Formats: sequence, structure tokens, C-alpha cells
Amino acid sequence: MNTSIQTIQSLKCVRPIVATTVYDSVMAQLADQACLDLLLVGDSVGTTLLGFETTVNVTLEMMLHHTSAVARTETKAFIVSDLPFGYSHDDFEHIFDACRKLIQAGADAVKIEGGNSIAPTIKRLVDSGIPILGHIGLLPQQIKNLGKYRKFGKTETEAKTLIQDAHALEDAGCFALIGEMIEDTVAKEISQALEVPLIGIGSGVHCDGQILVSNDLLGLTTKPVPSFVHKFGNLSENVIQSFQEYKNAVIERKYPNE
Ligand code: KIV
Repeated sequence: MNTSIQTIQSLKCVRPIVATTVYDSVMAQLADQACLDLLLVGDSVGTTLLGFETTVNVTLEMMLHHTSAVARTETKAFIVSDLPFGYSHDDFEHIFDACRKLIQAGADAVKIEGGNSIAPTIKRLVDSGIPILGHIGLLPQQIKNLGKYRKFGKTETEAKTLIQDAHALEDAGCFALIGEMIEDTVAKEISQALEVPLIGIGSGVHCDGQILVSNDLLGLTTKPVPSFVHKFGNLSENVIQSFQEYKNAVIERKYPNE
């Protein structure tokens, strides 16, 4: 049976939700065979696959291209697609149009970065039939303001704001939230205060689920990974070794053979 919003929500307090990012049909198929619950076509596609420094360069056209590739896989997992940089504070008609296109490309829901200030927009989107996954804490699309990645919720004021953001997004109708790089104790408080699940990334053990960028967890990257990432694989080494063996076999005329 395909995973629905209700399936994701019913996992809260039963077992942690397991999520990752995917950007193409091969990885979507592999993650789905491992029965992951939620697959995010993240705008991290920009930094993991497309060679950009940040996610700010990722356009709606790129997101649609990758979302439809993932959706063609027809996974059992729930598919969420990122609303790219620059849309969340645009006119409602533009935001709605971008979300509609992502859903029509095959996403089951759209993820939007931001808290209290975008809650009224999220309410209108949810009322219009667009399921929304919220995203609080570190917002990678704000990197130009932030300067660098850091942990959120270390001060009392920041912790209070995060909790208010979480409540505003739940009240607006988000079916779940991503909490990125939030202090463990604050993430715990949010998870306990909300009815909807909080899926953490670098936010400790008390979240209702975990999400990691697939290339990071698979070790399929040439860049350093954030300190909270555990590499469950070392695919970069496997790929380099396979390319070297191929090269050697061709040069030594062992491949192709008669
Ligand atoms: O785009 C992405 O990969 C994300 C995750 C960091 C949650 O938003």
C-alpha cells in the first residue's frame, strides 16, 4: 500500500519516520526498495548533483524536472518536493501556481522553508488542496542572510521563536515539519508539543523521525559532510574503483573479450 499523510502521521509515537532525499528515478527506486517512508526531492539537488554552492540557484524548472523523474518511479514511499528559493514570500497566485506544478509533476506534497511569517500562506495552500511539509530551524534558502550553517535554538529567544513557529505551522495545517539543526532539547520540546511529527536533520534523538541527504549518508560525495551525518556507505570509493578497473581492463585489452 502506498504511504499517505495518514501513514506518516500515524508513525508518531510508534517508531521513527525514516526519510531521505532523492533526485532521480534510480535512487528513488533503490530507496523505495529499502522501504523508506518519505522521499524528498530536495532543492539540495543544486549542491549535491548540479554543482552549485547553495540551494539558492535552484529554479522551479529544475525542481519539476527532478520531481517528475522521481515520480515516474511510482514508489510506495511518500514523495515531497521542495518549493525553491524566492517563492515563499511571493504573491499567493505565484506560490499556488508553483506548488500546483510540483504536485502535477507527481509530488504528494510540497515542502516550504519558513515559520510564523508564512503560516497564513500555508493555510491558504492547504485549504486549496496542497499538502505542506513545514521546515524550521536552519533554512538553507536563507544562507545569504545567515552567512554560514549553524545550530538554532541555543538562546532562550531563539528557542521561543522556534516553538512559536512550530505551533503556527501546525495550526496552518502542515502535516509534519522538518526541523534542521535545532538544539536537541528544543527539538524534544517541539516534538512533545506538536501533534504532527517533527522530522529532524542534525536535531538529535528526540525527533519523531530522521532525514539525511542521500548522497551524504551513502558516502556518494566528494565534499565534506555535516558533522551530524553518519556515512552508512562509501559509494564514492566503490565508484572510483569501478571506473579504475574499467580503465585498466580496456587498456590491457581484457575488456571486451571475444
Ligand atoms: O533540500 C534538502 O535536502 C532539505 C533537507 C536538508 C531536509 O531540505
